[in-house]
Amino acid sequence: MEKQTDLFAHKSKNWDMNSKRVQNAKAIAELIVKNIKLTKEMELMDLGAGTGLLSYFVAPFVKKIVAVDNSPSMLLEFENKCDEFACETEAILKDITKDPIDERSFDGIISSMTIHHVEDIAALFHKLATLLKDDGFIAIADLDSEDGSFHSDNTGVFHYGFDRETLKKFAEAAGFSDIRFETASTIAKPHRDFTVFLMTARKER
Ligand SMILES: C[S@@+](CC[C@H](N)C(=O)[O-])C[C@H]1O[C@@H](n2cnc3c(N)ncnc32)[C@H](O)[C@@H]1O
Repeated sequence: MEKQTDLFAHKSKNWDMNSKRVQNAKAIAELIVKNIKLTKEMELMDLGAGTGLLSYFVAPFVKKIVAVDNSPSMLLEFENKCDEFACETEAILKDITKDPIDERSFDGIISSMTIHHVEDIAALFHKLATLLKDDGFIAIADLDSEDGSFHSDNTGVFHYGFDRETLKKFAEAAGFSDIRFETASTIAKPHRDFTVFLMTARKER
């Protein structure tokens, strides 16, 4: 992989110590489990898995989770605790927007709080479609449109949350159907609350 700055190097060690983050990931995982029929035969990719908060809560319901992330420090935290996951795991250091992922196709792709770091969302959805089996699913959570005040430092943030209708159009253009949104959680900060959506969709056969 081309050498890049690790934007999460200063955050990775303490990432899991923020209880709001843990609660958010747990709420997203619970909604995924409620809305998608997961089985112990399934192999999922967690896009921007980071330290594995979302993977951890989804792990009991699937066979394997492949964590893809372009931050070496976040993936190191993931690997340090992979014995605690209730499924097989694999960590792959990759920038989803640049590097090809080797020949494999997933039953589903899950993601939490990552896609606001990806500039070209239309291209991302096309890429995700190529990584899925026919009828595979995506379950992607991120912030609803916000005013830019969620992060104290917006370095590496390309989107101040997302408008759900706009995301739906990108997903349709990439060949996804049965596109649904639900509010997964609300993150309370001292100055205001931020809602987090879960978008689910199926790759058309
Ligand atoms: C806000 S963190 C969320 C981490 C984890 N999903 C969670 O909910 O705790 C975003 C993660 O996405 C990763 N990321 C951002 N852009 C990426 C890209 N282009 N390819 C792969 N991973 C990326 C970052 O390195 C980081 O670990």
